Amino acid sequence: MSAIVFDGVSKQFGDFTALNDIRFEVAEGDFFALLGPNGAGKTTLISILAGLSKATSGRTTVMGFDVQNDYRQARRAVGIVPQELVFDPFFTVRETLQFQSGYFGIKNNQAWIAEILENLGLTSKADANMRSLSGGMKRRVMVAQALVHKPPVIVLDEPTAGVDVELRQTLWAFIRRLNSDGHTIVLTTHYLEEAETLCNRIAMLKQGRLLALEDKDQIMSRGAARSVFLKLKPAQLPTELSSLLLQERDGGFELKLADCNGLESILATLRQAQIQLKDIEISQPDLEEIFVQMMR
Ligand SMILES: Nc1ncnc2c1ncn2[C@@H]1O[C@H](COP(=O)(O)OP(=O)(O)OP(=O)(O)O)[C@@H](O)[C@H]1O
Ligand SMILES: [Mg+2]
Repeated sequence: MSAIVFDGVSKQFGDFTALNDIRFEVAEGDFFALLGPNGAGKTTLISILAGLSKATSGRTTVMGFDVQNDYRQARRAVGIVPQELVFDPFFTVRETLQFQSGYFGIKNNQAWIAEILENLGLTSKADANMRSLSGGMKRRVMVAQALVHKPPVIVLDEPTAGVDVELRQTLWAFIRRLNSDGHTIVLTTHYLEEAETLCNRIAMLKQGRLLALEDKDQIMSRGAARSVFLKLKPAQLPTELSSLLLQERDGGFELKLADCNGLESILATLRQAQIQLKDIEISQPDLEEIFVQMMR
């Protein structure tokens, strides 16, 4: 079964089309990145998934439950970490989580709440009022709140915006563990290196349309070709390699590299020509470059 299905989802705000016939599925167990520039429609799509906003047309299911017709089950199946901080300033952190549990009719989950607090570095703030927390701490509570009912699907809408490096690492270690325990994770982020290291599948939205949907490895491999930069002694390129030359720079040569075998044959050619290698650097296109290319 797919964890999430978007089947022709469109959303109009008056004349403005925020989402245009979005169709894709997120498989159970995926660590899924939803990427796109500001205004692409990511949060709108997540609001529809959460049942907070109604699609103009199309159908959305979470764990098989229709977000409109089976609202309660669908809502239970998903935990949403919202992009905007929303909280009651008069509750403590623990009360906030207990209140959220109550919303789902869950009692006696103190042990799980304690575990969440611990994993998000919130234990010492458990009895502090929400209004007294820093922005990053409030964001941690938003994450905790999404997890109280142990939802099979967890959606994080830019959870690391304004969060320090330490929490990002703690947060990702925790989310990774939840993913390996079988939870499906959907993440939007503007830190592309996060998507690159964490996610196995990537969707890109632009102006309300789905621009790409692929396994991460696929997306990465269709980017700009790799290249290898060599510094040689003596500093001359054997003629056999001149067809691979992309440019000469910084006293070295940048060569086109199709794959790892390509590297092997370059090194063999150098050896035969008795040219020594002083330095070597292989460049890998990163998700950021690919993203920027696709968004053009
Ligand atoms: N309630 C609304 N009324 C009118 N327009 C809206 C409303 N909500 C969103 N939009 C518009 O829909 C588009 C998509 O917005 P959305 O918040 O989904 O983008 P996003 O991809 O989440 O962007 P960001 O990366 O900035 O969070 C934007 O142009 C936004 O202005
Ligand atoms: Mg958004």
